[in-house]
Amino acid sequence: MKHKEIIAVYPGSFDPPTNGHIDIIGRAAKLFPKVIVAITHNYNKKHMFTLEERLSMMKEAVSKMKNVKVASFSGLLVDYLNKIDSFCIVRGLRALSDFEYEFQMALMNRKLKKDVETVFLMPEQEYTFLSSSMVREIASLGGNFKNFVPNNVYKKIKDKRKN
Ligand code: COA
Repeated sequence: MKHKEIIAVYPGSFDPPTNGHIDIIGRAAKLFPKVIVAITHNYNKKHMFTLEERLSMMKEAVSKMKNVKVASFSGLLVDYLNKIDSFCIVRGLRALSDFEYEFQMALMNRKLKKDVETVFLMPEQEYTFLSSSMVREIASLGGNFKNFVPNNVYKKIKDKRKN
């Protein structure tokens, strides 16, 4: 069987991108020749940043990783995979509590697109408790979240809080 170059897609809402996300992207970038961070709207969530803001924050945060591109999509993830000729999804697994949801999503995506594979990567232990909503909450309550997000994201949240 001839293997074509795999395009790995790391989907999420990234509202905002955290150091945990960047950790996963760095690991994926070591494993795959090309990684696309695919940002979308999550209809179950009320977002703090617009899609454009999340795109620009993520682009700046991963600008040094040469095989990583950032894009956005709407609609089903599997339709986006078909559009860019990819069959590989990357997801982070932080704790056992992520497993059930991830398992369900991986199997549903496989039902929707037969050849899809989901690859799970574990972030550094210090990021296993981190989530975007926790960062949003700490920021909105005036706590210190500097160590949880890339510098450019930290500045952007601070600016947003001033306005
Ligand atoms: N470090 C830090 N935080 C992490 C993390 C990591 N390594 N991995 C996940 N998280 C956080 C996320 O920031 C998010 O935090 P929040 O809930 O506080 O905002 C939380 O864990 C859950 O993330 P996730 O499950 O990835 O939600 P999401 O909105 O980022 O992504 C999609 C879900 C977008 C991938 C999914 O809804 C999707 O595929 N949508 C497209 C429509 C579709 O195809 N639906 C059918 C799917 S079967």
